[in-house]
Amino acid sequence: MNRTIACAVVVAALAVTGVVAQSGGQRPPAKTTGTPAAQAKAPSKVDGLLAAMTLDEKLSMLYGATDPAGYGEAGYIAGVPRLNIPPLRLTDGPAGIRTAQPATALPAPVALASTFSVALAEQFGEVLGQDARARHQNVVLAPMVNIVRVPQGGRNFETLGEDPLLASRLVAAETRGIQGEGVIATVKHYAFNNQENARNSVSAEVDERTGREIYLPGFEASIKAGAGSVMASYNRINGTYAAENPQLLTDVLRKDWGFKGFVMSDWGATHSAAPALKSGMEMEMPNGRNFGALADAVKKGELTESVVNEAAKRILTAMDAAGLLAPDTRPVPEIPTTSVVARDIAIAGSVLLKNQGNVLPLSKEDAQSIAVIGPTAKVLLFGGGGSSAVRPMRREIPLDALQKKAGPGARITYAKGYDLDGELVPPSALRPEATINIVGSNALPAGTTFTWNGTVVAPKTGDYILKLQSVGGRGSLLTGAAATAAQQQAAAAGRGAGPGGGQPAGVGGGQQAGAGGGARGAAQGPAPAAPVAPTGMIPVGVPGFGGSALLQTADGLSNASTPIHLEAGVPTPIVITAGGTGRGGPVPIQVRLAWVSPDIEKARIDEAVAAAKAARVAVVFVYDEGTEGRDRASLSLPGIQDKLVAAVAAANPRTVVVMNNGAPVLMPWAGQVAAILQVWYPGQEGAEATASMLLGEAAPGGRLPVTFPSRAEDAPTAKPERYPGVDGKGTYSEGIFVGYRWYDQEKIEPLYPFGFGLSYTTFAYSNIGVKRAGGGYDVTFTLKNTGTREGVEVPQVYVGPPPSAPVPMAVKALAGFERVVLAPGATKNVTVHVDAQPLSYWSTKDHAFKVAVGKRTFMVGASSRDIKLTTDVNVSESRR
Ligand code: BGC
Repeated sequence: MNRTIACAVVVAALAVTGVVAQSGGQRPPAKTTGTPAAQAKAPSKVDGLLAAMTLDEKLSMLYGATDPAGYGEAGYIAGVPRLNIPPLRLTDGPAGIRTAQPATALPAPVALASTFSVALAEQFGEVLGQDARARHQNVVLAPMVNIVRVPQGGRNFETLGEDPLLASRLVAAETRGIQGEGVIATVKHYAFNNQENARNSVSAEVDERTGREIYLPGFEASIKAGAGSVMASYNRINGTYAAENPQLLTDVLRKDWGFKGFVMSDWGATHSAAPALKSGMEMEMPNGRNFGALADAVKKGELTESVVNEAAKRILTAMDAAGLLAPDTRPVPEIPTTSVVARDIAIAGSVLLKNQGNVLPLSKEDAQSIAVIGPTAKVLLFGGGGSSAVRPMRREIPLDALQKKAGPGARITYAKGYDLDGELVPPSALRPEATINIVGSNALPAGTTFTWNGTVVAPKTGDYILKLQSVGGRGSLLTGAAATAAQQQAAAAGRGAGPGGGQPAGVGGGQQAGAGGGARGAAQGPAPAAPVAPTGMIPVGVPGFGGSALLQTADGLSNASTPIHLEAGVPTPIVITAGGTGRGGPVPIQVRLAWVSPDIEKARIDEAVAAAKAARVAVVFVYDEGTEGRDRASLSLPGIQDKLVAAVAAANPRTVVVMNNGAPVLMPWAGQVAAILQVWYPGQEGAEATASMLLGEAAPGGRLPVTFPSRAEDAPTAKPERYPGVDGKGTYSEGIFVGYRWYDQEKIEPLYPFGFGLSYTTFAYSNIGVKRAGGGYDVTFTLKNTGTREGVEVPQVYVGPPPSAPVPMAVKALAGFERVVLAPGATKNVTVHVDAQPLSYWSTKDHAFKVAVGKRTFMVGASSRDIKLTTDVNVSESRR
């Protein structure tokens, strides 16, 4: 693969105009507040300010500081009070506004992508913009538009799926929505940030064509829609860090796309001062670790002041374009407790994957007798983990919502099924004997570090799940060989080792009040005594930011798990550490060691099976844990959830599975259950939305924006050199064959294909026609609702390659879509416009998009694998 993303000098008319021109749905009239930065002329106000600013004042615009107001946002630029340049407050993120105060927790962006609705994407952006204003924020660190490449990618839930056209349409609308509120949108993470493991170092080895066709269009679309800023990602691209990459930041972004806004680094993604600035990276976040040296660089003559001027000018220009340099006379909006937009998207983005015998929506009789099973019925898993996690305005739980809607007379029982809390590991199973249960009033003082070195000795052989339940910064639990190595390391460092070797290193005092609390054989001392896991070890559980568990224990502790096989009577070393500082500063340390033994597991499954047998219908809630900072270790649902679903399905033929996940998972039980409803991480209105769909008050309207494979090894990135990478390089050798393009090319049947989703009604397609229109083609067809209730259909237009394609092209590529609501029996003539972009390939000879001419098949389908109508068209060059 070559090392060139682009040296594009030829700006292709076809390349850049098509992406945002077509919409997949209606959108409300565009607001006029906030001129898109990309169109703004350098206003004289900005020039006047620049002329008045000192070098230090200009430099202060280029890196983060601490916000004295304490709103708790992610980033802050102080501004220049002397010149009435206000501060700039930057807040996450893609699923809602994240400050110290609650805000609307929108459904995860993957749910937005599932709506295939440009109108909803714009409304999503409007909520972000309004909530940002309500929380005194000026820059939203969203949208995120990294293409889903690796199915286990930790942040797949935060982005808009695997297809560049779908992502481009939605990201453009979301950007308009944010910017329309007078807030700057930040499209991120530019670029090729497609995995979390090793994200700070991995080099995406990717060729120019793949970049242009698959990974870059979403960014371009957002910029063309007016995004005022871009966030440079953590990773490297063909060896060069994104945040100092002139090809991406200058050649593509500014020369090819005409970007007039500014580029900020991801948090801590800057690796240099002058080289980064010169490459086109204007703002270091969250502080001036590198850019603090720019003043010196100018003084020493290593950097000309004109580069600093240009950077400050770009930031001020984006601020001005968003109206931030003028006094804001608009009232600060209130955030409503409930959000209609969040609810609409939760429903419109839920995907009905299976519905045997139309078990959904539940009949009146079924709704009177439901066994509800699974942890996420009792706690709302509204969003994924990491920087996109929002403090929601409300968090009703699905079980309550279901009971409320089904009525007080309905017999709705609950069984945990999968035990997230487990039980305290009994002292008799630890050597030295210990009760590790320092919680509540027994918490250790803030700043303490707790360590425990010992062994666990199970009474029975079997598969256990060990759980580190804690509060207070970072904790880790090492087991087996990793624990032994840590114990040896601690011994070498003179901190005590081996079973019972915990030496208090300056005891903080008063840690263990009350019977049953505290731990014997533990070391507690002031930080920073926390042992560092030797290289190569994987601590389970790093609670807090980037943490390991999205669902807390019933008593509010962070809950990290590790499966472990234990032989009866055989000691297995473990090392526990808890301490450190949370994001919001030091907090009292709580820590508990719990487990789910084989006996506990069996008891919970038996309870679930009994509940399922006693009810007309069983609804099992399952989940996965998508989070920033790490990829999922496997595509399987965590823990024993697969076993649970299979057991419940065997007990009740009317088993419905509700899925709270952010990315593809394997479903070995898919053939055994009656219905599967994919609700993703559904946002703060998720409980009410889920109950409404189960009971038929609302109908799920989503289609999959990502392919669900049957087996992990079917995925395009299932080779180590592709993912997680070898020798620091993740090679994108699958090229453009990402997502459904891969499965089509390799003739692999997925579990559920891209674009798939059932409805509570049925549709018929007829009469395809294609004619030239507006520099592309209009595809027309007739859609009829052949069922008995209103429903949503998302017809998708795909185009195949010409017979003698100039480059290897996808068997089919999404070229347009529409979201249609039809009453029972109603018919609609639908027109989907296909512009030149999806008919084009990137020519590495011309460094431009070219239409692939010749006879091409236009397909209209209900999914990428359910093509209803086809016709061949002789595609020629655009005549625009
Ligand atoms: C994430 C960004 C986020 C930033 C600020 C980083 O860790 O990658 O997406 O905007 O933190 O919270």
